[in-house]
Order: sequence, then structure tokens, then C-alpha cells
Amino acid sequence: MYIMLDTSKSSVGQSGDFVTIIDERSGKKFRLAIMRGTMGSPVVDISRLQSEMGLYTYDPGYGMTGSCSSDITFIDGEKGVLMHRGYDIGELAEQSDYLEVCYLLLNGELPARAEKESFTATIKYHTMLHDQMQYFFRGFRRDAHPMAVMVAVVGALSAFYHDSLDIQDEGQRKLASYRMIAKMPTIAAQVYKYTIGQPFVSPRNDLGYVENFLNMTFSVPAEGYRLRPAVIRALERIFILHADHEQNASTSTVRLAGSSGANPFACIAAGISSLWGPAHGGANEAVLNMLEEMQSASRVGEFIARAKDKQDPFRLMGFGHRVYKNYDPRATVLRSSMREVLSELGVEREPLFELALELEKIALQDKYFVERKLFPNVDYYSGILLRAMGFPRSMFTVLFALARTVGWVAQWREMVEDPLQRIGRPRQLYLGSPPRAFVPLDDR
Ligand code: CMC
Repeated sequence: MYIMLDTSKSSVGQSGDFVTIIDERSGKKFRLAIMRGTMGSPVVDISRLQSEMGLYTYDPGYGMTGSCSSDITFIDGEKGVLMHRGYDIGELAEQSDYLEVCYLLLNGELPARAEKESFTATIKYHTMLHDQMQYFFRGFRRDAHPMAVMVAVVGALSAFYHDSLDIQDEGQRKLASYRMIAKMPTIAAQVYKYTIGQPFVSPRNDLGYVENFLNMTFSVPAEGYRLRPAVIRALERIFILHADHEQNASTSTVRLAGSSGANPFACIAAGISSLWGPAHGGANEAVLNMLEEMQSASRVGEFIARAKDKQDPFRLMGFGHRVYKNYDPRATVLRSSMREVLSELGVEREPLFELALELEKIALQDKYFVERKLFPNVDYYSGILLRAMGFPRSMFTVLFALARTVGWVAQWREMVEDPLQRIGRPRQLYLGSPPRAFVPLDDR
């Protein structure tokens, strides 16, 4: 069996080129269409491979599989490029704000002034949680990890908002999207308050999205929270950088859960569960743990040696990416603004940042990391910044989930509205026992 490129039709378009598969034993040939997107690598359409050739593909981790078509986000991993709806992430982080990026991801265009005002008002309208939900929190232990509480509370939204569960109804789909974007900061702040034993603070619709979240998180009834422009801007930027990232593990989880027709709140809860793992969104917390354990630059060599040792499960957290084989552009934005933001936050010297820079410098010169194209990813610097803003590390992944909600929702809506959408159902390469006769218990 081999695959060859058929150059007989080489016109570039949405399709037009083919690869031909030839079964060497039977001589049977089958042409697979090559599909071309607006940008990025072409893909081979294998949808008829089974019916024509009796074959499935084998791709553990889906590294070579395009599971859907999408108009939302584009990544060029070799060049370190990330774009939402054609806009570069660096420009969005510098010049836009989070709700504008939300609108862009959901609707495909940047909003005009009136559209932005109306969208902002809609999101603000939905910031409160059903009053009954406060009792839901009380079932958890106070020392629960905030992600454990968040997964449950977001899943429970489907028990409270019955008028936005019908996924066939466009109006209900939109309502569910707005509710999730609006309620996520309230949930995240309440999760935090619950775990530290402070009363919940209600949302304030006279504040912006990020300001409201900061106020709900850090103010107490006895004392207000001083909103500092530097903190607001830095968090806004972090939210923008995390808003969407193509078909990553949590987004694919949301799509897969949603492909069965499950309600949107349940799908987002599934995405949050996937994000929690240390190989994905949990890495920001793990980076800080790693840097604190390292303590000083004198131990960088020891940690690098451990990361290279195949007998040791330890990995350099915040390093490497399935798609980026270059500097993660989100890490570039964070790294370049780090000193300025830390100084605006009143932190003139952050030893963990200096340590992170030293570790990065040494890793990027090391043959192991160079050969495997392992660069810092978004999680490498975000934790240091969040810590300087006053967030405990157990909240880092919660903040990632808050910001990523819009991406999950936009991707979920795109999937539901895709006429080619079918239930997600991968196949397998079976390596178990061949057929055998059942042995009664007494004979085993
Ligand atoms: N430290 C040491 N070695 C690494 C690392 C690392 N951080 N990342 C990858 N490698 C090695 C890996 O051992 C393998 O080596 P070899 O070819 O000798 O077997 C090679 O590089 C390729 O790695 P892989 O595991 O096949 O790559 P992957 O695409 O399956 O995994 C990853 C990607 C992000 C899970 C992985 O790089 C990793 O575990 N990084 C640390 C965790 C982390 O920072 N995660 C955040 C990801 S970005 C934000 C997000 O998406 O949430």
C-alpha cells in the first residue's frame, strides 16, 4: 500500500488536487481529494476510505487529523502565528478589549460602535446567577480545588436555565452563549470566595467585564477593592490571549460532547474538565510550582537534565506545544509586556520571572529542546503575572476556563450550525483477543 500525489490536476482552489492510494496486492486504486483552506496545510479527504478501500486511519492523539472545518481561528505552528477571524493575536491583545474579541469570535466581524454597546449590555444583563445556585456551592468542601467546583457548577447551569437548552433553536443557542460568557466571571469569583470562606459579592453592571470580575473576586462587604488600571489592562490582555485556540483538547472535547446533541452547559463543563489537566490549562499552575521548587538559577541545570531524562516523567512545564514549533505568539506578547506590567503592579523585581528567563535561555540553547522545537507556551509566563495580581495559583486554570469559554461557545455554535455535522465517533485498531468460546465459571 502506498500513497502518491496525482499531479494531473494541480489547480489550486478549495479542491482540485488528489492523492491516489494503490493497494499493491490487488492493484486497486482510489483517489482521495485534497481540500485547501484559506490558509494552512491542505488536507486529504478520507471520508470514503472505508467504503472504497475497507480502511480506517490510525492517528493516536489526532495529531494529523482535521476533525472539522472552521472559520474562527488559524494557527501556523511553524511560524508562531495565531489569528482570530484573520486578525493577528498581537494586534488584538494590544488594541482590542475582551468583549470585542468575544463578539469577533462569535460573529466573525469586529463590532461597530452600536453593536459593541448592545453586545456589552446583553452580557451585563446576564451576569447574575440564579439565587438557588448559592446553595449548590455549600455541598462542597471548602478545601476543594476551585476547578472541581467550577466543573460542577457550570454543568449545573443546565438544571437552572431550561429556556436555553434547545440546541435546534438559534435564539436559545445565542442565549446560552451569552449566559455562559456573562456568568463565568460570577462563577469563578464565587468559587474563589467559597474556598476562602468569604461571602459572595454580587456582580456590578456599572463596571466593565474585567473590572466586575476583579471586584467580585477581591472586594469584601467590609471593604471595597481598589481597581487599578494596570491590573485591569493586564487581565484583559490575559483574557484576550486565552479566548480561543482552534481544535485543542478542551475545544475538541466540547465539540465531541456537543456532537451528540448534549446541551451547551454540559458541553462547556466537559471542556473545563479537559482543560484542567497539567498537559493543557493546568500547566500555568504547574509552571509556578516548578519555579518555586527550583528556587534558584543554580538548579536550572538539574531541572533541564530531569526534563531530558526519559526515565523521569518530569517535563519542563510551560514548554512545548503540539502545534507550535516556534515561540507561542501568546507567550511572546506576555513576555514582552512582563516587565512593564510588573512594574505597573508595583513589583520592581520578581525573582520567579528572572528565574523563568534564565531557565528559558538555557533550555533554548540546549540541543534536546532545539531539536524537538520546544519553546515556551502561553502558560510559561501567565502564572507569574496572575500571581503578581494577587490570584492564588489554584485559580490560574479557573481564569483560563473563564477566558476560553467564548472560544468553546463559538466553536460549539459553529459545529451545531454546520450542515455536515455528525456525531463524533472515532474508530480503533483492535489489539484484543480474537473470538473465543465462553468458559463457564466452574471450568475457569
Ligand atoms: N519537557 C521535556 N520534553 C518535552 C516537553 C517538555 N515540556 N514537551 C515535549 N517534550 C519532548 C517529548 O518527550 C518528546 O520527546 P521524544 O521525541 O524524545 O519522545 C517530544 O518532545 C515531543 O513531545 P510530545 O509529547 O510527543 O508532544 P505532544 O505534542 O504530544 O505534547 C505538550 C505537547 C504540550 C503536551 C507537551 O509539550 C508537554 O507536556 N508540555 C508541558 C506541559 C505544558 O506546558 N502544557 C501547556 C500547553 S500550551 C497551553 C494549553 O494548550 O493549554
